[in-house]
Amino acid sequence: QELQLSLEAIEKGGYDHFMLKEIYEQPHAIKDTYRGRLRVEQGIVKMAGVDQNLERFLNANRIIIVACGTSWHAGLVAEYIFEDLARIPVEVEYASEFRYRNPVITDKDVVIAISQSGETADTLAAIKLAKEKGAFVFGICNVVGSSIARETHAGAYTHAGPEIGVASTKAFTTQITLLTLLALKLARESGTLSKTKFHEILTEMEGIPAKVERVLESNPLIEIIADVYKDAENCLYLGRGYNFPVALEGALKLKEISYIHAEGYPAAEMKHGPIALIDEQMPVIVIATKKGHYEKVVSNIQEIKSRKGKIIAVVTEGDSQVRDLADHVVEVPESSEALSPLLTTIPLQLLSYHIAVMRGCNVDQPRNLAKSVTVE
Ligand code: G6P
Repeated sequence: QELQLSLEAIEKGGYDHFMLKEIYEQPHAIKDTYRGRLRVEQGIVKMAGVDQNLERFLNANRIIIVACGTSWHAGLVAEYIFEDLARIPVEVEYASEFRYRNPVITDKDVVIAISQSGETADTLAAIKLAKEKGAFVFGICNVVGSSIARETHAGAYTHAGPEIGVASTKAFTTQITLLTLLALKLARESGTLSKTKFHEILTEMEGIPAKVERVLESNPLIEIIADVYKDAENCLYLGRGYNFPVALEGALKLKEISYIHAEGYPAAEMKHGPIALIDEQMPVIVIATKKGHYEKVVSNIQEIKSRKGKIIAVVTEGDSQVRDLADHVVEVPESSEALSPLLTTIPLQLLSYHIAVMRGCNVDQPRNLAKSVTVE
């Protein structure tokens, strides 16, 4: 028993929980994902599984992404990236819904399955169905040699290293990293992105790990914020554009490990329902970074404030407009909108983590949840 405990302590590498360790591993994990693939000097993205099947990708009528849970959120971010950069229509589906609704799939479709474990039963069944209907199926998995990795026609590993905490953290950011590389590659091959813009984003991607390190420096501040809201019963997360899926993921993290009811919404949808919930008891976490819909999100923040909601905002370094309105702000370094989810996700992970610890919850193994769901 004692040996078991000390082994676990070693595995946690000095952190109190696997989740915290994995949050802190993200700068490295992201680098491991793009290592060898992102070649700024040569101005290329190298991905063997894509190069060998380039025609399938370039001739695709559309891309269908299938996934569950956090991986589904990474798929939603990818929808923005693929459509924005590569101009390929994308649909993102819950694997469990896709497999049972007699979907229209043809041999001109590319299906991308995203799964950390590579063992999720619904995702596995969805890709089997897609294959039967003639689609080309590409897998994005973390666990090497997993069932989904074996079942797909081709794929790429995230190389995030083992993720032990049930609540997914580094798997999410590395999935987004990999999907961004894929979108960039397709965009360059199909000519939807100029060489200059392509190079600009490649260079920016290379700088992301250092920026994630900087976001992690906000941890003490986030712990203070967590202490203020740890007894909340509800929580609302708002984001727009590329950061709408980040809002969903932030809410999922909070409910998974702290058991606080949380909902993520696209900021502009707030007026179609959630605004009715806002009062002085309601913490609202808003992603309000400078690039992409900033002014619109600021006006959402004003609406929350006039209803006395408590505002915790994730903003770009140096922002003053939101700082004047919000109860708390957490800064992230400036980035393009396309790469901002890799930064804005981090404070939300840390906020959930600290709230869960303060509430005495079992952070690494939350009740009723499993790391990989191998049954329907
Ligand atoms: C479970 C896990 C989640 C994960 C989801 C999908 O619900 O608790 O963290 O996002 O399954 O798992 P996958 O391994 O397919 O990414």
